Amino acid sequence: MTGDEMRAQPPLGLLAELTHRCPLRCPYCSNPTELHRASRELDAATWGRIFAEASALGVLQVHLSGGEPTARRDLPAIIRHAVSAGLYTNLITSGVLTDERRFNELVEAGLDHVQLSVQDAEAGSADRIGGYAGGHSRKLAFAPIVRAAGLPLTLNAVVHRQNLDRLPDLIELALALGAGRLEVAHVQYYGWALRNRAALLPTRAQLDAATDTVNRARDELKGRLVIDYVVPDYYATLPKACMGGWGRQFLAVSPTGLALPCHAAESLPGFTFPDLRTTSLQDAWNNSEAFNRFRGTAWMPEPCRGCARKEQDWGGCRCQAFALTGDAANTDPACALSPHHALLDLAVREAAEATPDFTYREMGRAPAPAAG
Ligand code: SF4
Ligand code: FES
Repeated sequence: MTGDEMRAQPPLGLLAELTHRCPLRCPYCSNPTELHRASRELDAATWGRIFAEASALGVLQVHLSGGEPTARRDLPAIIRHAVSAGLYTNLITSGVLTDERRFNELVEAGLDHVQLSVQDAEAGSADRIGGYAGGHSRKLAFAPIVRAAGLPLTLNAVVHRQNLDRLPDLIELALALGAGRLEVAHVQYYGWALRNRAALLPTRAQLDAATDTVNRARDELKGRLVIDYVVPDYYATLPKACMGGWGRQFLAVSPTGLALPCHAAESLPGFTFPDLRTTSLQDAWNNSEAFNRFRGTAWMPEPCRGCARKEQDWGGCRCQAFALTGDAANTDPACALSPHHALLDLAVREAAEATPDFTYREMGRAPAPAAG
């Protein structure tokens, strides 16, 4: 199939955003700026139906995410539905709401893998970034519970100007916690993160040092720790194939049941996303205008239309194109060929002058965990 054809290939992964509630307030949160209320969340049975439809469509893995997915009391039931649909289950969590008893319920339900997010390697900074006092120590207590249950653990470290200098410590932390993989993810600047961009963008010197650190660690830790790391868009000349291309490999489902081509797509205006309360996942994936709009290459403007890389990066990220240029159909400004590429340099220069203060959001917080 060529990129000009609209026919959809089956998706491989599904991101299930079970809730927008979260006790943390990370200033780079990728959830939409308008969060869905708990009362509108899909129930476990509806998630079960969606998982069965996803599996029938070809999905192999479900990523249980949010917000904070463990804020859902019925998470074991949701996991059981995913397991009976034959899906590999990955929990993406902050770890601050889950004690050993609750985690073992998830394991008994059939959970396969855990991705634990950390905000920094140093507790004071981590708690400040996450906007949650005591959060870092709860994460340090949670990781051994995962390992004791025999589950593989990935550490997710979202990096930016205010923690990137401690990347060597984050690598040490991943080793100390028994993680087999460390994802070093630079902040993506749309949604809430765009509001905090000036306080978060790293400098070129920080980035170069981090790249050296990763290259050295990958050599030294071969066979012990896999490190995922890519150069952030604001210092790139070629964009990434965001989501592996729009409507090609992944889909997300919002807490209220909207099928989305990416987790940030609700930031894009002018879309009607299929509602999985009333539409099948197969219909949403194959036939909806929202999934077909940027599928393939026929929609592309120049310079993408005539570019040899158009079926490698699929024109980059639609959400970043919209966030920076106001038009999701534009070439991602991360591409040096984009007429808007200079916007990235401008943002980097502005950030160099900015204060490190964050704008936190208050909505959608889950209740703090009960003591003990
Ligand atoms: Fe990718 Fe478009 Fe840039 Fe070519 S012009 S490298 S297809 S974003
Ligand atoms: Fe939406 Fe990249 S985050 S397409």
